[in-house]
Parts: sequence; structure tokens; C-alpha cells
Amino acid sequence: MVEPREMLGLIPHGLYLIGVQTEASRFIYTGSWLTQISFEPCLIVTAVRRTHEGHALIQEAGAFTVNFLAKGQLDLARVGFGNPDDRLAGLEWKPCPKTGAPVVLDALGYIGCRLVKWIEGGDHDLALAEAVIAESFREGELLNIHDTPWTYS
Ligand SMILES: Cc1cc2nc3c(=O)[nH]c(=O)nc-3n(C[C@H](O)[C@H](O)[C@H](O)COP(=O)(O)O)c2cc1C
Repeated sequence: MVEPREMLGLIPHGLYLIGVQTEASRFIYTGSWLTQISFEPCLIVTAVRRTHEGHALIQEAGAFTVNFLAKGQLDLARVGFGNPDDRLAGLEWKPCPKTGAPVVLDALGYIGCRLVKWIEGGDHDLALAEAVIAESFREGELLNIHDTPWTYS
């Protein structure tokens, strides 16, 4: 027997910078627990940890961006769990035209999402959201958590 978390560590999650913008605040964090759950409408879910600012801000904004990181962009991924006060300071970004949330220009591209349902979980809750806009900046492979020294399971 092994702990369930050990088996779950085999799941090849991608890594993303998840951005949110409210009237008063802007925040970005590194996320990995994310998947598509419907073709039409185009729905995703992502797990949002209770302990960071994104948890309250996503509910308040009702929207967020998912910025897809490329293989090798470990430094960019690191920004999303570094000092929360100046995460966007060193990044080139623009507001998403549909959600206003930060779009990271060095990423492979992004989806802009509108929150459909907020589902209570455990130490993370689930944001179920519709992808309402997407832009691809360049071709490339998504950064996989297994290509990094980090685990999240
Ligand atoms: C590899 C990795 C994956 C992560 N995946 C998620 C995730 O799916 N959801 C989430 O809310 N936080 C995730 N986090 C944690 C957030 O990035 C982190 O809590 C946030 O940036 C705020 O930092 P703090 O918790 O130190 O304040 C992950 C962190 C790492 C290092």
C-alpha cells in the first residue's frame, strides 16, 4: 500500500500562471490542478488554495486568466509562488480584453475564463469556469510539473 497522494503524484499536470483582477487588486499565482470538463460550452475546473489571495479575488472578480507556461519557463513559474507583492512587476503583461485579468506575454498563450460555479472542496475549492477568449502567442510544449523539481500532490 502507498498513500493516495503518491499515486496522484504520477498525474502529469501542466503549470500555469493564473491571473485575477478586481477593482482594487491584481494577483497572479502558479496553478497546476486544472482540467477541461466540457466541449460546449467550453468549461474548465481549477483548484484554488484557500490560503492565497487568489481564493477571495477570483470569487469577487468572477473571472480569471490561465497563462500557459512553456517547457523551460521555471523562472516564470517561480514568480507565481514568490513574494506576492511584486509578482507582476518584472513581467510583461496586458489586461485580458474580456476579463481584465493579467495576460503574461511571455507565456505560450492564455484563456480568459468567467466563473460559472464555485464549489467547496477541502484545503482547495473548485472554480468551474467557461473559457470565453483565448490567444496563442507562439508554438511550444506546456511546462509539465514532472519537468520541475516541485511536487504538488
Ligand atoms: C508546483 C506548484 C503547483 C501549485 N498548484 C496550485 C494549484 O493548483 N492551485 C493553487 O491554488 N495553488 C497552487 N500552488 C500554490 C500557489 O502557487 C501559492 O500558494 C501561491 O502562489 C501563493 O503563495 P503563498 O501560498 O506562499 O502565499 C502551487 C504551487 C506550486 C509550487
